[in-house]
This record gives sequence, structure tokens and C-alpha cells, in this order.
Amino acid sequence: MTIDPAKQAAGEAAAGLVSSGMRLGLGTGSTVAYFLEALAARGLEVTGVPTSEATAARCRELGIGLIPPEDADRLDLCVDGADELDRELNLTKGGGGALLREKVVASLADRMVVIATVDKLVDRLGESFPLPVEVVPFALGPVRRRLEGLGFEVSERRAGGVPQLTDNGNVIVDCRMRGGIEDPAVLEATLAMVPGIAESGLFVGLASLALLGAPDGSVERVEPTSD
Ligand code: 5RP
Repeated sequence: MTIDPAKQAAGEAAAGLVSSGMRLGLGTGSTVAYFLEALAARGLEVTGVPTSEATAARCRELGIGLIPPEDADRLDLCVDGADELDRELNLTKGGGGALLREKVVASLADRMVVIATVDKLVDRLGESFPLPVEVVPFALGPVRRRLEGLGFEVSERRAGGVPQLTDNGNVIVDCRMRGGIEDPAVLEATLAMVPGIAESGLFVGLASLALLGAPDGSVERVEPTSD
């Protein structure tokens, strides 16, 4: 495997925030893969709730103890990737399709730390990366029309010619808005009210620190300006 030094630097920096005994939220994606490896290398006594079947499988390989989701009331720290983030640490997530479980797990944590590469920091979310939205299959038609009514160009995520199902058996639509997302908090609340939307990939007010890796191996820390 070719090493990505920027993702590796972010993952390793996040592993440095973990101490023995912590209960963790374990995100999903290629940057999180570096975090899991660095975490396992530290040999700490930790357990975590995985946000996807892929993360659960990797944890088993690495010997990281798993907490069943039904036993997870409060977590010390959640570490997860992002597709885009702004300076207030509003995020878009779901490029890997795990957004629903990721949001549930992040909401249980005292602290959410985002790990990503520096190029994912943007002035406005949604200008280049579409917003993933997880939809219950039964409601796909009405939800699509509702999203189009809000001004989105909607495309259903497919793999091998068929709809790509999430770990929850739902489908994902990727939503593009010309000019990006004006107000992430308002849009997140609006989407939460639409019957048939299981979750949106907008994460507002959850992350308190981002560790952004650069190709030279350095890591930039970003904290929200208003807290
Ligand atoms: C999965 C996610 C990922 O965290 C996000 O897509 C970033 O992934 P990567 O670190 O591979 O760029 O939200 O649902």
C-alpha cells in the first residue's frame, strides 16, 4: 500500500490524544485507517464503537476492543474523517457511506476530533464536494423531489449498476448545490424534518478540534472561532 503522509500524520496526531481506559468512537475512511493503526501500535487498553462494518473488521484485525452500540451511552472521544470542513468545524461527511452511524457515535462523545488533509478545509461547504444524504429506499422518490425543490441536483449513489446500500440497508443520494451551502445549521435542521431522510452528512456543532495533515507530515490544528 502506498503511504499517504498527510493522512498518516493526521491519524498519528489523533492517536496521541488517546489514553488508556478511554471509550472511543471509531470513525470510517482512509484517514481513520491510519488512526486505527497508530492506536493499535500504542498498545493502550481502549475500547471503541465502530461506525461501520469496515471499521469493525479492521479493529478485529488490529486487536482493538469493540463496544456493542447498545452499550455505548457516553464516549470519551470520537475520532473521524470528513469530506469537507469549514473554519467553524461544520463538516460534510458520508463519502464512505457511513454518515448515519458516524453521527450517532459522534453525538455520544464528550469530544469529536476530525482528522483530514489540509485540502479539505474550505470557505464554504458543498462548493466542490456534494452533500451525501442517507434515505430509506421506500421514500427515495418523494425525498428526491423534496431535495430538488430545495435547489439540489440529486444523484443516487450506485455501484456496479445497482444502488449502493449502506450498512443500514438504506441508499445514499449525493446532492449538489450551485454556490455551496449557505447556512449549514439551517440546512441540517431542514433535512432532519424530511420524512424518509435517515440522516444528512452535515455535522454541525459536533467537532471541537480538527487535525489537518499536510504532505510534508506537518499537522495544522483548527478549533472553531466561536464556541
Ligand atoms: C465516511 C466518511 C469519511 O470519514 C469521509 O468520507 C472521509 O474519508 P477519507 O478519510 O477516506 O477521505 O464520512 O462516511
